[in-house]
Amino acid sequence: MSGAAARAPVAFLGTGLMGRPMIRRLVQAGHPVIAWNRTAEKAAPLRELGVRVAATAADAVTRAQVVVLMLTDAAAIRAVLLTDEVRGLLAGRSVIQMGTIAPSESRALAQDVADLGGEYLEAPVLGSIPEAEAGTLIVMAGAAEPALARWRGLLAAFGGVVHAGEVGQGAALKLAMNQLIAAETAAFALSLALAEREGVPVETFMEVLRASALYAPTFDKKLERMLAHRYGDPNFPTRHLLKDVELFLSEAERLGLDAGPLAGVRALLRRAIDQGHADDDYSSLREAVLGRDG
Ligand SMILES: NC(=O)c1ccc[n+]([C@@H]2O[C@H](COP(=O)([O-])OP(=O)(O)OC[C@H]3O[C@@H](n4cnc5c(N)ncnc54)[C@H](OP(=O)(O)O)[C@@H]3O)[C@@H](O)[C@H]2O)c1
Repeated sequence: MSGAAARAPVAFLGTGLMGRPMIRRLVQAGHPVIAWNRTAEKAAPLRELGVRVAATAADAVTRAQVVVLMLTDAAAIRAVLLTDEVRGLLAGRSVIQMGTIAPSESRALAQDVADLGGEYLEAPVLGSIPEAEAGTLIVMAGAAEPALARWRGLLAAFGGVVHAGEVGQGAALKLAMNQLIAAETAAFALSLALAEREGVPVETFMEVLRASALYAPTFDKKLERMLAHRYGDPNFPTRHLLKDVELFLSEAERLGLDAGPLAGVRALLRRAIDQGHADDDYSSLREAVLGRDG
């Protein structure tokens, strides 16, 4: 890490489920952090870590050379970054976008930031709150080599950094992974439900699955929640997985891919949300499969 990047203050916008543990990692790595969040109460406790909490996004950006974004989606990013107050501050600053958005959305943002005289990198992450806390996220950077070289040290505070390619390719890699999260979890919930309804003991189902080439570690991670029908205190909420599936479907259409099976998963996610699980863990897909409406 260059000395400048090692000590560069970081404006961190978005202190949600992922933003908070990521900020903790930055602080542990020795970065001064100026945080801002739309809902101020979520940022206030960060003061105990020595984080400076800004009253506005513009106030945070003014105090740093690099801006890290961990916001819900492209609409939120635009609402925060491309306001009249912030736009004029982007010249000469670097923006590192770390949420999950579509490649086309990321490329459009890169263009807007470049037009304003700033530098844009995308660095979406694989892994959830436990990995964010441990600094073991997989960071999929999409950026020009010099820009990544400048900020690789900072990104290393979050986990292992993979250079996916240019802007858009990190976002594409992330969406490719999240399609698997959605499809695998839906498929697991469905097979589990069939086995249960036919009276096959869950242990027998899992024993065979674990011994097979079909097994994925995520199945065991989600099994306990599914069996207990307990989806509160989420690492990754159902509404965010639906967002990512929608993004994948629209990008697939743009690329001429038939993503038919994923449209079925989208229907299950919508049903889980209709059942009241929007802010619950996405393993609530199980309830949609079980058809527990009303
Ligand atoms: N959770 C995970 O496991 C995980 C893992 C990898 C990637 N991601 C991705 O990382 C991003 C953040 O996820 P998260 O789990 O941290 O989500 P979250 O807890 O819902 O946080 C979302 C953040 O975006 C802010 N926000 C949303 N709309 C806004 C708007 N219009 N204006 C200003 N701020 C706005 C929220 O502010 P308020 O607090 O005011 O609502 C909050 O700070 C998402 O793209 C998600 O898909 C999540």
